[in-house]
Amino acid sequence: MPGFSTRSVHGHGYFDRETGAFIPPIYLTVVYEHPATETGEPRTVDRGTALIYGREENPTVRALERVLASLESAGDALAFNSGMAAISTLLLSLLRRGDEVVVAMETYGKVARLLEEAASRFGVRVVRAWPSAESIAERVSGDTRLVFVESVTNPTLKVIDVEALARHCRDAGATLVVDNTFATPLLLNPTEYGADYVVHSTTKYIAGHNDVLGGVVAGEAGAITSLWEWRVILGTIMQPFEAYLTLRGVKTLEARFERQSRTALAVAEFLSDHPRVEEVHYPGLDSSPYKPIADKLFKKPLYGGVLSFKIKGGLQDALSVVRKLRVIKPSPSFGGTESLITLPILTSAAMLPAEERKALGIDEGLLRLSIGLEDQDDIIEDLSNALG
Ligand SMILES: Cc1ncc(COP(=O)(O)O)c(C=O)c1O
Repeated sequence: MPGFSTRSVHGHGYFDRETGAFIPPIYLTVVYEHPATETGEPRTVDRGTALIYGREENPTVRALERVLASLESAGDALAFNSGMAAISTLLLSLLRRGDEVVVAMETYGKVARLLEEAASRFGVRVVRAWPSAESIAERVSGDTRLVFVESVTNPTLKVIDVEALARHCRDAGATLVVDNTFATPLLLNPTEYGADYVVHSTTKYIAGHNDVLGGVVAGEAGAITSLWEWRVILGTIMQPFEAYLTLRGVKTLEARFERQSRTALAVAEFLSDHPRVEEVHYPGLDSSPYKPIADKLFKKPLYGGVLSFKIKGGLQDALSVVRKLRVIKPSPSFGGTESLITLPILTSAAMLPAEERKALGIDEGLLRLSIGLEDQDDIIEDLSNALG
């Protein structure tokens, strides 16, 4: 099998015999000739679904899906118009009244909110567990229908032993969904360890330029075809221009991620030594309790471009650091070309119950930093100036 970057660049398989073009075009069409042949059969994409209407299929979107399925070592993949569209379509397709879901406490706030709504409206039972394979496994029982976990958690970068968790879920007959957004398929393919579905906010590392929303679900081919029907019902398909930008972005995933990881490690080491910093969360630090799990699971000795750190003092101290930054921008996303900083307590973790936040280490002084592609020296100088 070709390497990761070769598949990122060529995995769409597009080639136009008439013109010789091998860059997938943006198919800005909602309609297709139908029926397209004398037999009355419409044209199909390679997964066998018909090209009939833009809410169902689009060739540019399909090209991206081929790349993402290959990068995730999965049978097939579906692209959605945001990470939340991917996750909500998947959860709606899988959950039934009365089902039990076990979810890691440290999970993106809107996913937690979606599950709360499912609990109150559809009688789904939601069990929240400490984000570790052991604690989640302890809560999984014969009644558990689904387990949802981020392979690397947001914002304190805990690495979950997906291998151990997948084994446990398989034994218990529970479906395991892994949000692999932070790790990216470069470091981890959860399906190889037995996860049933992998989801990403492609808005982050996969598209990588802070300019396009998207999401993907990858998994076994038959399961993805069933999910496709839900994407059609809910109308959550990614749009062709977004698919084009994401196809363009994913080609440089490995190059970007390697550089961002290298810079992030240098920044984490700089912050660890700074007198105003109480604590740094980064799985690449030798002192991190999560480094051994990362080194066991990750395909490369890289640990991503996101880290979080606690400023001594409280909210005002953290805010004053953010206000002094010039290169790093205050904004609640990650994985793109621009370095971004955010206060999780005001953004992604705002919806977590206060006692859970405290236990997880998400307090008022915690800042999450996503390293972009600026020069390492400029990022460190910016932080140094802001910390004073
Ligand atoms: C880990 C994770 N999963 C999913 C999402 C949702 O993705 P999107 O913003 O593309 O809807 C986010 C958003 O920040 C996220 O951080």
